[in-house]
Amino acid sequence: MRVLVTGGAGFIGSHTCLALLEKGYEIIVIDSYINSHKRSLKRVVEIFTRNNIVKHIDIEVGDIRDEKVLDKLFLRYKDLGNPIKAVIHFAGRKSVKESVLNPLLYWDINVNGSITLLRVMDKYNCRTIVFSSSATIYGVSNCLPLKENAKIKPINPYGRTKVAIEQILSDTFHSHTNKWKIANLRYFNPIGAHSSGMIGESPIGIPNNIFPYITQVAAGVLDELKIFGKDWPTSDGTCIRDYIHVMDLAEGHIATLEYLNNFEKKIVNLNLGRGLGTSVLELVDTFEKVNNVKISTNFSNRRIGDCCTLIADNCLALSCLNWSPKRDLVKMCLDGWKWQLLNPDGYQ
Ligand code: NAD
Ligand code: WQD
Repeated sequence: MRVLVTGGAGFIGSHTCLALLEKGYEIIVIDSYINSHKRSLKRVVEIFTRNNIVKHIDIEVGDIRDEKVLDKLFLRYKDLGNPIKAVIHFAGRKSVKESVLNPLLYWDINVNGSITLLRVMDKYNCRTIVFSSSATIYGVSNCLPLKENAKIKPINPYGRTKVAIEQILSDTFHSHTNKWKIANLRYFNPIGAHSSGMIGESPIGIPNNIFPYITQVAAGVLDELKIFGKDWPTSDGTCIRDYIHVMDLAEGHIATLEYLNNFEKKIVNLNLGRGLGTSVLELVDTFEKVNNVKISTNFSNRRIGDCCTLIADNCLALSCLNWSPKRDLVKMCLDGWKWQLLNPDGYQ
């Protein structure tokens, strides 16, 4: 089956491309490389080549807001008699901070980009989409762990664009054609890297997220990790998150595509997390122990916009999908460190 992966060169996209190729899917990636590097997908192919397996990814360098580019892409594969049957839609911007500073950019790329994509998909009768939503859409006052029907109340523009796209997808589903198959995957905190150490997260500039920050402190690129707050109402006073190995997340996308294929029409929201909470101090401690490294830390004030605890109730995903997360925190720390050691400057 031919699948279009938007934003496939990025962190989660590249790992998902690997998982798709492993499962025999034919893939095309469209990526503007605004937050990624050409090397990521080259490395994905190289992982197969090293095992004497020939795999190929068609790559279109382009912006999903460009309807002509998307149209030409869908037309090309239709004319080849091998049309695009489904889309996994990662392309978008993801920095909470940047979205506060530049909301118009976020609404344009994330929302207008998605509308353009949906319009072209509809034109070419491609009506299966797996969308990268986020746990950031849930309100902070929710009960834990978070079920998919928990209150939606994002507190930043980035989160609001994700809610808007989910809403647009819902309206599209309920429109007269009613033939869409849609999955909104609400990711929790993906970390780690492929076990080969060949692909991983390669943030541009100083990382915003904790895991690449930790690996860069361990490698001596950054001096120390600032822990945002030590007075949260948790057992050790630091925030709790539901970390999930990026390869588990990647495999969740394939399981979702397979799930959607069982239906004529379907819309579903699924939390992709492990359902387990880890505090900042626990994460640092595990990373130090399993990799035998030291992470210098210092407590600082709480970060604006942070919430205390975010944990997924993943029961729905576990029951619908032929999937469960298999890799634990130790594996996330081992694989993430391997990636950092083999690629001190990421893909640069
Ligand atoms: P990423 O930035 O590494 O990947 C996004 C990719 O999209 C990049 O390769 C980028 O170049 C590309 N892109 C951006 N705008 C584009 C455009 N207009 N046209 C074409 N390509 C474009 O991010 P990621 O961590 O891999 O996240 C992928 C998706 O998952 C995003 O939509 C993000 O919002 C969502 N998400 C990520 C996390 C996380 O913690 N990483 C959590 C929840 C949701
Ligand atoms: C994790 C924990 C911080 C950095 C963000 C987005 C969310 C989603 C995932 C896309 C928190 C603490 C962090 C540091 C720290 N992305 N921390 N020092 O905030 O849970 O979620 O990424 O959808 O939308 O908001 O992830 O990795 O930034 O932080 O102490 O230098 O680590 O306070 O408790 P977060 P994170």
